[in-house]
Parts: sequence; structure tokens; C-alpha cells
Amino acid sequence: MFKFFNKINLFWWTIRLGFETSFVFYLLRNFISIIDELIPIAITFIISLIINSLIYSLAHHITILTDYILTLIILSIILRLVFNITSEINHYLIVKLNSEWDIIHGAKFLEKISSLDFQQREDQTISLLYHKVEVGIDKNIKTLVLNTIPDLILNLAGLLVIAGIFLTLNPVFIMLIIIPIIINFIIDKKYGNEMYNIWKTEGENKIHVSKSKYALQNLNSGKEAKIYNINKYLIEKYKYHNKVFQKEYLAKSRSKTKYLSLSYILDSIIFGIIQIWIILQVLNKYLSIGLYSFYIMNLNTIISNLSHIEYASSIIINDINYSQDYRDLLNIQTVIKVNKNYKLKNESPSIEFKNVSFKYPKSHKYVLKNVSFKINKGESIAIVGVNAAGKSTIVKLLARFYDVTEGEILIDNYNIKDINLESYYRLWGSLFQEYSLFWFSIKENIAISNIKNINNINLMKSTTMKSTLDKDIKSLKYKYETFLDNEFYMGTNLSGGQKQKIAISRFLFKDSNLVILDEPTSAIDKLSEDKIFKEIYKYIKNKTTLIISHNFTIIKYIQKIIVLNHGEIVEQGYHEELMKNKGYYYKLYNTQAKHFNNT
Ligand SMILES: Nc1ncnc2c1ncn2[C@@H]1O[C@H](COP(=O)(O)OP(=O)(O)O)[C@@H](O)[C@H]1O
Ligand SMILES: [Mg+2]
Repeated sequence: MFKFFNKINLFWWTIRLGFETSFVFYLLRNFISIIDELIPIAITFIISLIINSLIYSLAHHITILTDYILTLIILSIILRLVFNITSEINHYLIVKLNSEWDIIHGAKFLEKISSLDFQQREDQTISLLYHKVEVGIDKNIKTLVLNTIPDLILNLAGLLVIAGIFLTLNPVFIMLIIIPIIINFIIDKKYGNEMYNIWKTEGENKIHVSKSKYALQNLNSGKEAKIYNINKYLIEKYKYHNKVFQKEYLAKSRSKTKYLSLSYILDSIIFGIIQIWIILQVLNKYLSIGLYSFYIMNLNTIISNLSHIEYASSIIINDINYSQDYRDLLNIQTVIKVNKNYKLKNESPSIEFKNVSFKYPKSHKYVLKNVSFKINKGESIAIVGVNAAGKSTIVKLLARFYDVTEGEILIDNYNIKDINLESYYRLWGSLFQEYSLFWFSIKENIAISNIKNINNINLMKSTTMKSTLDKDIKSLKYKYETFLDNEFYMGTNLSGGQKQKIAISRFLFKDSNLVILDEPTSAIDKLSEDKIFKEIYKYIKNKTTLIISHNFTIIKYIQKIIVLNHGEIVEQGYHEELMKNKGYYYKLYNTQAKHFNNT
């Protein structure tokens, strides 16, 4: 029972999606459909009146059009006209609603996905849900809301009217007609659910399909695809996984069709029985010829109504599951919660890690173990360590992309979980190891850290001078307006180092109070690197700073260095101190020094 009410509730929620798309247009769409459904019934009734009147005229040798017949003809012409006009309007409404749907629900979907926390994006259940909704929102849910439901409503309206008419003739008919429909409904319900459940067992295939498609469309992975000739491999993958998914689907679909065909035989038999009964009524003079034609025409309509209703229900049974998915997705609450919502002052904060241990949500292995350190207001700290030591993870925790497993992070002595994130991120100026540039212009790419200054040419120029990007820009035809994507007319593709310089310019463009840099110059040549770092040192003066770098010549000037290994702090201090200790830092430093001396 509870399940039933749940479904009703879900159905109502789904209808509301239509009204959300456009209240007026959706209302009109349904209203006009009902009118379009009822007008033909009215016309058949007028025709039956005309037939009866003609029979009367013939019997009484009347050879002219009586006023009565004329009125009926005019009425039917008007109805026909209304029908044609409203049908046309309805076509427009469908187009209009479809385009509104894409804009409104497409954006709503993207908004939701992008608002999810990282750990939620990495969760398989959520990922499957999101892939299902991505497919469903474009196809299943859209068709359901914009076509199937209005179809159901109009057929129900038609059915109600005709069933009323038939009830006066013989109530048994209604029952007879409904039998095959109920059988179909049961078949549809069974297969509808089974077909949808394929997502549970074969859903990952769809993720493969969507990823292969993305890889082939994406130019960057496209390069590798070409060199290693994996285009073909990817296309095969695309075809294969699509096929596996579709195979199950088609198999179910086939057996469904088989059973449905059987029930249509029953349907025809019932149609025959009713037809014969009505003819017998006419022969026995219980029914006029006019009414006979009215009933027969509407017998067809009622059967088509019922089969439409049945068809619509079968689609609804299947596709309402996608609607459920969409609702589930929209209802997902982010897991990163702000408890007390302290707003930070717009100045350099202090940062403290207190016995922080961390494992990624899906993993059992601790990536950070009991890490403690403090950066005072305006102080700089550097972190060194080999690959996978946990350096970038520290940055991700500091950005609150994840919450610590044990221990706490304090920002200005407040627990990071109590801080209003907007006020916190306002302080940030950062460059992540995996930074991203967008296809838009260089100018925009730089200015998004501080968008209100996008037209401040002086700031833009002084910034790119610091990052040494200015020289690269000089050689570009469209200078700052160059798009970072060759698919655009003013677009180009830059080298890895040039791209990183844009990312550096981005954080320098904002006068931030907290600077977090994760391997900021990893792709840049030594010569530029030294220049850039001189500027970075100027920039971070009196700003709370955390720098992660492999480059010892750079970090050795930072007062406090943390040496991380296997997620643990193994040493900390300033460069000379650490060198004197002859510990892990000393070993790392010498390895690099040897390398540089050799090359
Ligand atoms: N999203 C993630 N899920 C699970 N494990 C991760 C994730 N990101 C990183 N790791 C693991 O955490 C460890 C530390 O990674 P990271 O902090 O990026 O190292 P570093 O920056 O020091 O090279 C690695 O073993 C890596 O595999
Ligand atoms: Mg890293």
C-alpha cells in the first residue's frame, strides 16, 4: 500500500516537471489535447444525427437540405476547423516544450552534478545514478512528461466520455473491453520492470559506452588514440558494451511482444462480439442506423483509447523509474556539511593540522597518518616528498574537498567544519597539480580568479609579466583574446608549460590571503622557473602559504619545510637544519643534486 502511494506521489512529482518546464504551455498542451480528443467524438455524433435525418428525408421524399441538416453541417465544419487549428497549436507547443525542457532540466541536472562532493562523484552508486539520469532526462523522462502523460490524460478523457455513452447501451461491454487491457497491463508491468532492472546488472556497460564516446570526441585523448591506433579499439568497445546492454533489452522486448500479440487476438474476438450484438439491435429496431454508425465508430475509438492508455501505462511503468532516479539524484545531500558557519575575516589565516589521519572514502589504506603542523598567519611552509607520499591529499583536505578521518584541521583556530566555505575560499589563491584551463580566451582563463577585474588591463599585464606569460602572448595573433581551443576561429593550442603559466597568472591575478601551490612549475623550463619563483616569493610575502614542490632549489628558501613519506611527517625544519640532520631530506636533496650535476 505504501509502495502504491509512493508511486502516485512520484507520478505527481513527474507531472510537476512538466509544469516546471513552463506552467502555461504545459497546461495548454494538456487542455488542447483533451479538446482534440473530444471533438472527433462530437463530430461522429453529428454525423449519426445527419444519417438519421437523411433516412427520415428519404422515407418522406424530402429532396432539399433542411435547416436542421444545414445547422448540423455548419456545426461539424466549425468543429473541424477548431480541431485543425488546435492540432497545429499543439504541434508548436510540443516543439516549444521540448526546447524549454532541454534548457531547464539540462541545466538543473548539470547544476546538481557539479554541486556534489568529490567523494560522492567517486561513489559507484551515485555514478550509475547520474549516468542513468543523463540518458533518461533526454529521452525517457522528457518523452514521459511531454508526450506520454498528456497522451494518457487525453485518452482517459475520451474514454470517460465514450464509456459513459456505452454504459447506457450495455454495461457488460465495458467489462469485456477492459479484459484484454488488464492482461496487457500485467504483461507490461512485468516486462517494464525487468527491462529497467537491466540497469542494475548491465549498467556499467552504459558507463563504458559514454566514456568511450567521450574519449573519442575529446581531442587530447584522441591524439593517443591515433598514435596507438586505439580509435578502433575504442569504437569496438563502444559497440560491444552498447550491444551487451541492448541484447538483454531486446530479448525482454521480444518476449513481451509475443505475449502482447496473444492478447490482441482476444481483443479482436471481443470487438467482433460487440459488433454483432449492436447489429442485432439495429435489425430488431432497438437502435437507429445513425446511432449504429455512432456506436461502431466510437467502438473503434474506445478500443484505440484503451490501447493507448495501456501503451502509455506501459511506458509510464518503465520510465517512471527514471523519474525516480532523477528525483533521487536531486535529493542527494552533499556530505560536506558546515556546522557553525563562522565567517572568516578577509586576511591571512593561520592553519593547523592536528593529528590528522585520512583514508579516501572508498579505500582502507591510510594516506595520511597522524599529521600535525602549523602555519602561522602570514608564514610560509613547504612540503616535500616522493610521489604518492600524500602531499596533494593535504591540499585536498585543506580545501575541504574531503573531511579528515581522524584529528582536526583548524583555520584561525576554528575547526574547518565550522567555517563558512564561501568566506574561506575567498581567501584562496591556488594552483592545483591537476589544474584545469577552459576553452575560452586567455584573458578569461586568467581573470576567473578575480572576475570583476577582467577589464583591468594594467593588472593583467603586470600579472603576465610575473608569470613570464607576456612573452608567449606577444607571439599570438589574437593576444589575450586567443581561445585555448583550436575548434574556435580565434583558437590555438599551447604547450604544457605555457598552459601552466596561464594557471600561475590566474592565481597571481587575485590578491589572495592564503596561497596554496601544488607543483606550480612542474612543466616550466628552469630559466622561466627561477624568474617566476622570484615573483612568487614577492607575492607570498606576509601571506599564509603552503608550497608543494620537488624542486629543492626553490623550497630551500622557505623557513619551514615538512618532509612527508608514506603519509607521515618524517622530518621538519629549515633547510640547513635538515641537511645537518642527514636524514631523509638530506637523502632526497642529494639525489636531486646528483641528478642535476650529471645533466
Ligand atoms: N580520490 C582518490 N581515491 C583513492 N585514493 C586516492 C585518491 N587520490 C589519491 N589517492 C591515493 O592517495 C595516495 C597519495 O596521493 P597524493 O596525495 O596525490 O600523493 P602526492 O601528491 O604526494 O604524489 C596515493 O597512493 C593515491 O593513490
Ligand atoms: Mg601530488
